[in-house]
Amino acid sequence: MTTTALPARPGLREFPSSFRFGAATAAFQIEGAAFEDGRRASIWDAFCRVPGAVLGGDDGDIACDHYHRYPQDVALMKELGLQTYRFSTSWSRVRPDGGPLNQAGVDFYRRLVDELLDAGIRPWLTLYHWDLPQALQERGGWTVRETAERFTEYALDMHDALGDRVQDWATLNEPWCSSFLSYTAGAHAPGHYSAAEGMLSAHHLLLGHGSAIRELRARDASLNLGITLNLTVADAVDPTDAADVDAARRIDGQFNRWFLDPVFRGRYPGDILDDFRRVDPDAVAALEAAVKPGDLETIAAPLDTLGVNYYHGEYVGGRPPADAPGGGDAPTSRRTQSPFPASEDIFWHDRGLPRTSMNWEVQPEGLTRLLRRVHEEYTAERGVALVVTENGAAYEDEPVVVDGRVEVDDAERTEFVELHLGAILDAIDQGVDVRGYFYWSLLDNFEWAWGYAKRFGIVRVDYETQERSIKRSGLRYSRIIADRALDD
Ligand code: NOJ
Repeated sequence: MTTTALPARPGLREFPSSFRFGAATAAFQIEGAAFEDGRRASIWDAFCRVPGAVLGGDDGDIACDHYHRYPQDVALMKELGLQTYRFSTSWSRVRPDGGPLNQAGVDFYRRLVDELLDAGIRPWLTLYHWDLPQALQERGGWTVRETAERFTEYALDMHDALGDRVQDWATLNEPWCSSFLSYTAGAHAPGHYSAAEGMLSAHHLLLGHGSAIRELRARDASLNLGITLNLTVADAVDPTDAADVDAARRIDGQFNRWFLDPVFRGRYPGDILDDFRRVDPDAVAALEAAVKPGDLETIAAPLDTLGVNYYHGEYVGGRPPADAPGGGDAPTSRRTQSPFPASEDIFWHDRGLPRTSMNWEVQPEGLTRLLRRVHEEYTAERGVALVVTENGAAYEDEPVVVDGRVEVDDAERTEFVELHLGAILDAIDQGVDVRGYFYWSLLDNFEWAWGYAKRFGIVRVDYETQERSIKRSGLRYSRIIADRALDD
């Protein structure tokens, strides 16, 4: 695919003609119908029932009722002019116990993909967006190798059903979250507190990724295959201060390189392994025992695309700030701990940037630097393209009814989208191969431990009536897609 620029139009910054615009969702966050047509519990259904785990005791039983309303949602995508739609399939709908196939579950995704294709929207399918079948968790979840094998079988089932119509496949969404945030920090399902489990889970997730990529590639060499990682830019408060620089190194290592290095270089980063060994030698011994000969070669299976999810940067130091900003990551009454095993003396500082209602800083320039760094250090030499598979913001939307219609004038989100698309154009101008952008999210939805309290959508969902209303940000995004350009 080439990225030929259109002839310049005065006053506009144009996107390459092959750049694709989309929006993203995930099965557990929107589908609902949690126990219909043979679907069984996932770890998130179970976690939602743990007292204090999810704000307000919210669950995914109904969510946005997308399982029943998908034709209407696809019509909204078409109205917005989306070229592509990123969604995930629910493993516990397709293989409810992690084992035998549930045809009714598969059929839902056939109907969804048909609807998308009929609307001229290209499906981008993610196989795992955190909703492991609870039955597999009861056998050890991602801490055991068997789960990687079951994942590969499930990937092939999906390919059997949709391989003729879906070209773009991603294995995992944000494995840092489904390992360290889930098995070490206790903040996400299954809510465990173990450094060893975090490391084992990350390894088995990556192993499942690599083996699914290998098998899918063997079936059809023309597929666009990849993984989505949540990556960040870690800046030291004082780049001349050794403790601050080391804090930034450890965040970069545990967040970015712990996943990028095995996926692209077939090895875990040595400095972070040393840090982990220093703080928890038993956990590293457990990891080393789990890494079998050939695993890292499998994990490094060649990819076509790296999906980058970017929300904010990290501004860190080795000493606490005089005036600490409020934390954005502990919404529940349940205990959580650091997802970073080697996090002693890492402190987050405030550099005065605006913040979203997640208390995440708005730092679009970080996205330009991140894309450039990943391109230069990992993807360019391997011919791997970049796609921003998530970027978005939660704000306190204030709906108003005008002429009987719900309107949301979400100026901050509108600006957020423009700034980040501008940051992507900056990266493209610097020679980075970025092929697309998915706004997170198409719809307001279930924001994990925050329940329904945080709204990221360009489309508002009234959870009482399930009414959808396109927000101003959605209208602006739609205009950008139609123009294929930003105002200069
Ligand atoms: C990352 C996740 O992939 C998605 O599920 C989540 O809702 C957004 N970020 C916002 O936190």
